[in-house]
Amino acid sequence: MCGIIGYIGSENAVPIIVDGLKKLEYRGYDSAGLAVYSGGGFEVVKRKGRLQALESEIEQNPIKGFAGIGHTRWATHGEPSNENSHPHLGHQNKIAVVHNGIIENYKQLREKLEAGGIKFTSETDSEVIAQLTEYYYKGDIMETVIKVVNRLEGSYALGIMCIDEPDALIAIKKDNPLIIGVSDHGQFIASDVPAVLKHTNQVHYPNDKEIAVLRKGSVQFFNLDNEPIQKTPETITWSFDSAEKGGYPHFMLKEIMEQPKVLQDTFQSAANTGDNKPIIDSLDFTRFNKLVITACGSAYNAGVVAKNVFERLCGITVEVELASEFRYKDAVVDDKTLVILVSQSGETADTIAAMREAKSKGAATLSVVNVIGSTIAKESDFCVYTAAGPEIAVATTKAFSAQLVLLYILAIRFAVQLKKLSPEAERELLAQIKALPEKANDILKQVDLIQQYASTCVGCKSIFFIGRNIDYAIALEGSLKLKEISYIHSEAYAGGELKHGTISLIEENTLVVAISNCKRLYDKIMSNVEQVISRGAKVLLIGNCPAAGANETDKKLSVIELPETNELFSPSLSVVALQLFAYFVAANKGLDIDKPRNLAKSVTVE
Ligand code: G6P
Repeated sequence: MCGIIGYIGSENAVPIIVDGLKKLEYRGYDSAGLAVYSGGGFEVVKRKGRLQALESEIEQNPIKGFAGIGHTRWATHGEPSNENSHPHLGHQNKIAVVHNGIIENYKQLREKLEAGGIKFTSETDSEVIAQLTEYYYKGDIMETVIKVVNRLEGSYALGIMCIDEPDALIAIKKDNPLIIGVSDHGQFIASDVPAVLKHTNQVHYPNDKEIAVLRKGSVQFFNLDNEPIQKTPETITWSFDSAEKGGYPHFMLKEIMEQPKVLQDTFQSAANTGDNKPIIDSLDFTRFNKLVITACGSAYNAGVVAKNVFERLCGITVEVELASEFRYKDAVVDDKTLVILVSQSGETADTIAAMREAKSKGAATLSVVNVIGSTIAKESDFCVYTAAGPEIAVATTKAFSAQLVLLYILAIRFAVQLKKLSPEAERELLAQIKALPEKANDILKQVDLIQQYASTCVGCKSIFFIGRNIDYAIALEGSLKLKEISYIHSEAYAGGELKHGTISLIEENTLVVAISNCKRLYDKIMSNVEQVISRGAKVLLIGNCPAAGANETDKKLSVIELPETNELFSPSLSVVALQLFAYFVAANKGLDIDKPRNLAKSVTVE
């Protein structure tokens, strides 16, 4: 969580930093701040609340400088306040620091510094970095940073400036994302690529504990022994436009609408001879007797869908584990286990820890990741990239859809290796996946219908999602999407489980969203629908086999009909309708959809 940015060059750093922070606000939005070097010293502005508050302050009292650092915060240590906002300065105002991560030994370090008479001004763990840097600084910032880093325990991506060496901006990371952008007019540090895309597509991905020294016309890298390291920048293929709203009121709606293209791009990059193919093909699936999928949030839900697909196609038992649970449960995995990690950001702390735990036990690790060069992508044994492009809205949509497609394709490839699929069956399944973008497009055309229905649900206190088998798996995502952006209580249940407790929560006009794409289970889910309707619920039925037998004249039942597809891939269509439903419920409530309260997109803390 938290986003950092820094710039040093020939242009005014202030608008560049503010603009970059806008692209990073998805990482946290409790407060924002920036510091620029302006001749005599640091000019610092910090404001609690959204970035807008910082912008207004700067508009009223403009500042300027050719080097600076900025931060957008997701509070961990200390409440959201001006004082706890970054950048933090040392007690003599010589050092300014922005930090993303958590310093685990900050209390010991703070006590030591306080005992020496240094006064702290915030409750954060991060301030200790600025104070310690200033405490150690004796005229050589490189030497100082090395000393500081050797004392820090925890995770960090840091931007550091020193008033005595204003022509340098220092950056270093450990277990948190950091990129270094190189442009004609100056150099950048940032937590994520979209923050610098407007200026450059040339980006370095430093490894942990490599120090980057940015100057107006150069970037140099050093190890902790102060020895230079050679690095070549990578060219980013994401366009600047892909990180802009493009006329949509919210990034989330734009990203929902982009899904047909994302499905197509992901299918092509995975199934053709792209970078991914040799990597997947070199993985011998026949050597595994167990498959574990581990992830967090929506990526976990993608894993639950994938479990159904892998089990059906490969005939192998699949466990799906929340990464936060997997990492502490002494998981039973070994060198005959393949652990699949699913992550949009590739930086989720729990998923990283699960990956390291799996590797330490000898399991092979394969990651499905969207952000190129991220920690999970780099550290996993095998990696396949989703082609979702930059995803800005906190609630994931297109990255989730891309994860599903890649997981389907992996399941098919492994099933072929296990000789569970004939070439014709493989072709047929791939053709079904290839047809998904057009079908997703057909659902997007029903946007008005979904919007209209959603407008009647704004007052709901609770919404239940039900489905069976793979429909239940995608019900989990429908429920998560709704609750995270609309703040309406919501839960997903397997249809057959209703009668074991949940049905007691059904009252007059409780909304139940039923998902129905499994023809063989259609009667079963319909009987659940009847059970809840007869107890007063109203039902929104979403699926490709809902109409026959459904009494549409019943005012309690509304239907969103989805295109036909193979049951195994139907979640890719259901989810589009579910995302639109969640989006419009939240939009009708006038909520800040792209930045739901208390959430952040990249969860780099436990
Ligand atoms: C956060 C995001 C979710 C995401 C989850 C896992 O909670 O808001 O959209 O699914 O983290 O993130 P990852 O980057 O690992 O997919």
